[in-house]
Amino acid sequence: MNFPEDFLWGTATASYQVEGAVNEDGRGPAIWDTFSHAPGKVYRGDTGDLACDQYHRLEEDLDLMAEFGIRAYRFSVAWPRIQPEGSGPANQRGLDYYRRLVEGLHERWIEPMLTLYHWDLPQALEDRGGWTSRETSERFAEYTDIVYDSLADSVRFWITLNEPWVSSWLGYGVGVHAPGHRSTSKALAAAHHLLLGHGLAMQEMRSRGNPGGDNQLGITLNLSPVRPSRDREADREAARRVDGQANRLYLDPILRGSYPQDVLDHYSSKSDFSFVRDGDLEIISVPIDFLGVNYYMRHMVREDAAETDDVFSSARARVVIPHGVQKTAMGWPTEPEGLTELLLRLDREYTKLPIYITENGCALNDYADPEGCVNDEERIAYLDAHLRAAHEAMAGGVDLRGYFAWSLLDNFEWAEGYSKRFGIVYVDYPTQRRVPKTSARWYADVIGRNGLKG
Ligand code: FCB
Repeated sequence: MNFPEDFLWGTATASYQVEGAVNEDGRGPAIWDTFSHAPGKVYRGDTGDLACDQYHRLEEDLDLMAEFGIRAYRFSVAWPRIQPEGSGPANQRGLDYYRRLVEGLHERWIEPMLTLYHWDLPQALEDRGGWTSRETSERFAEYTDIVYDSLADSVRFWITLNEPWVSSWLGYGVGVHAPGHRSTSKALAAAHHLLLGHGLAMQEMRSRGNPGGDNQLGITLNLSPVRPSRDREADREAARRVDGQANRLYLDPILRGSYPQDVLDHYSSKSDFSFVRDGDLEIISVPIDFLGVNYYMRHMVREDAAETDDVFSSARARVVIPHGVQKTAMGWPTEPEGLTELLLRLDREYTKLPIYITENGCALNDYADPEGCVNDEERIAYLDAHLRAAHEAMAGGVDLRGYFAWSLLDNFEWAEGYSKRFGIVYVDYPTQRRVPKTSARWYADVIGRNGLKG
């Protein structure tokens, strides 16, 4: 099963999850520093203070990727390294670090894919309202301008935001992520200001021309097909509302220039949407060059009018795990066919743009055996099945250009701390030793053959 000649085989990480060095070279505090240090927010009180220490082990990690023939690395820039207070002049030492990273990639023939925002908002901006405030969208465009100015000549792929759904709903709606607010109206305002920030950042980058010659600008959304758990009108309606909150609230403004009316109607008792100003949707829908898609699972939902902790409670729904489906250590159902379904829907309903799967992977209870090997056959099966599903979508006409395994390394899995391991490389945290799992060797093989066996 072959993939196109220039298919981009990559792995992904994010700054706060791997870098550590939170007090070095002028980095300012991020909302995840505050949140993870607050008691009871992250499993076992884990923080990103050290994480995988990639800030100091950069060469080793770059060598690891080179060893496995990885063609592209998706990483994120920590905004508080560039602007410690979220505004004002650039901190040169922060820019220098990413320059080193990008040069190190080029030396190894690895294509950099840069995410400008993977959730580590400068705390100083959160103190002024964070993403509930329009000011943050404007600050984000200024920050983008600094980073683009510094790296646009050597980074081809630019992603404005990672998963604005997670930032808005987990961070401001149900509070399981930083900054930890629990308010539907705040989540809605955050969603809009994230989208606006994306649009303003796009405009900023576009206005710089194309310093690298062939720069590609886009955004990464986490998307999930949604199904009703029972063949009933109430559950079908619940599925429509969840699809609205999770998928269409982001896809429609970016790719169609409008908010979905049923979502606005559903949330009208929570917000008057007065934060949406004339002209915003034109900004949000400025053309992108590619769409990044993170796929982990499908959502099966049923109606539930009670107020619960479920992330879809505000959509009067809750998630149901289908019977008999395999689950990962996160408790997420493994449903590779959902990826085919999702990609075909995007192609049919939203866009013919090139698509990159910017994240896909699974957490397992990995451990090093007495010989020091980490045998993760289940991860191999997971990745294999999802690549097959992606291939099927390509056969159905989807213009899929690349795939990034989440993650290169085990890392700080947000509210789950270090308890959930997603890497194709195992990290022994006490020693920071990297141990490639069986899946890393398998992935190297896939890349080498540019496809799957059989
Ligand atoms: C995604 C995040 C990424 C990682 C994976 C497991 O939602 O973008 O940082 O935590 O989930």
